[in-house]
Amino acid sequence: MIMAAKFPSPEKYDKNAIVTVPRYSEFHNEAVNVVKNFGIKPRIWLDTGCGTAKLVHDHIDEFPDTEFVLSDPTRGMIDIAKDRMSGNKRCSYVTKATDELMFGSESVDVITAILCHHYYDEGGRQKAEENCYRMLKKGGIYVTVEHTAPATEEGFTITRARWKEMLVKAGRTEEEAEDHLARYNCSFFPITIEAHVRQLKDCGFSIVEPFIMSYFQVGFYAIK
Ligand SMILES: C[S@@+](CC[C@H](N)C(=O)[O-])C[C@H]1O[C@@H](n2cnc3c(N)ncnc32)[C@H](O)[C@@H]1O
Repeated sequence: MIMAAKFPSPEKYDKNAIVTVPRYSEFHNEAVNVVKNFGIKPRIWLDTGCGTAKLVHDHIDEFPDTEFVLSDPTRGMIDIAKDRMSGNKRCSYVTKATDELMFGSESVDVITAILCHHYYDEGGRQKAEENCYRMLKKGGIYVTVEHTAPATEEGFTITRARWKEMLVKAGRTEEEAEDHLARYNCSFFPITIEAHVRQLKDCGFSIVEPFIMSYFQVGFYAIK
């Protein structure tokens, strides 16, 4: 379990994420758009690795009949999420990592996991996604966005240079941008698109499709 730490306000945290990860808000909007076009009316939606609750906060009104469970292993994040949703009766909270969640099998309609599973090594991520598969109802949908590894060294070099350019344009110094990029394969552990699709299929999902790609970040949905 990751321990509580001192966090900035949700707005400040989100603003920092927006300048660090290209198209950050778009990932949320497009993930929600996938769920809408999937054509189910979710009763229970689990947002794991919810962070500051940005996704649920920005989209809850579009799903008036849905109950949202927000989970995150970091207590400080759950505190921010609770504060931000200020007593909304359709939200509940759990302080756990995805692999530790213990909701019943086939109990959830939608699971979103946006940029929160890259801290796992490959085995850990598999365990977390197997747990998502277990908790989803048959016909339920898992939507994730992850830092993803390009298939070639050349692809890595080009994407890294583009991300660095974006960070510098957003106001980071060269050194800060380099520090940020040094986290690749040290603080987070990306796998290729192909490997991630295979992993989701190995979990048991029958349909797996990428739906958005930007720099190192790729979104996938997977249907049970
Ligand atoms: C970059 S933030 C993304 C937050 C949110 N999903 C969003 O898109 O705004 C990553 C979050 O993942 C959480 N996290 C870290 N390890 C996790 C795990 N094993 N399972 C679920 N969430 C995790 C962190 O505590 C953090 O809140």
